[in-house]
Amino acid sequence: MSGKRFATAASLQTFAAQMAKAAETDRGLVIYLQGPLGAGKTTFARGFLRGLGYSGRVKSPTYTLVEPYETPVGLLYHFDLYRLGSPEALYGLGIEDYFVPGAICLVEWPECGRGVLPPADTVIVFEVDGDGRVLTID
Ligand SMILES: Nc1ncnc2c1ncn2[C@@H]1O[C@H](COP(=O)(O)OP(=O)(O)O)[C@@H](O)[C@H]1O
Ligand SMILES: [Mg+2]
Repeated sequence: MSGKRFATAASLQTFAAQMAKAAETDRGLVIYLQGPLGAGKTTFARGFLRGLGYSGRVKSPTYTLVEPYETPVGLLYHFDLYRLGSPEALYGLGIEDYFVPGAICLVEWPECGRGVLPPADTVIVFEVDGDGRVLTID
């Protein structure tokens, strides 16, 4: 496996927070988070939000499909499309209101929105490696 390995969830969150602080978010940002269940995608989103200065609760959007956050640097939408029936169902969700200039979108299971979901600026692939997690960033 290539990429960066994180032995603990805490170290993965710290890395995500650093990425958030370094991110150029003014014109909007779309990050795909790919990988199997339990690979650390939501853990990453939690760390990323912390890095942007959001200190409230971060829950998995497993059932709501999307959770909005108002952070000190602007709006962030956290998607989990695992339960999306079809890519076209994104229209019903009001996709055009989310992927707008200035907004940050973190998308778990982007495969489920293929063809309708806007392209990513950054793709992060998560793999389980024993007790650790390996992240490959493109
Ligand atoms: N190195 C690690 N990095 C991230 N999560 C880890 C790590 N080791 C164990 N975990 C655990 O794995 C689970 C990852 O869950 P989650 O982030 O919700 O995954 P996903 O959103 O990809 O389904 C959490 O329970 C977390 O505590
Ligand atoms: Mg998740």
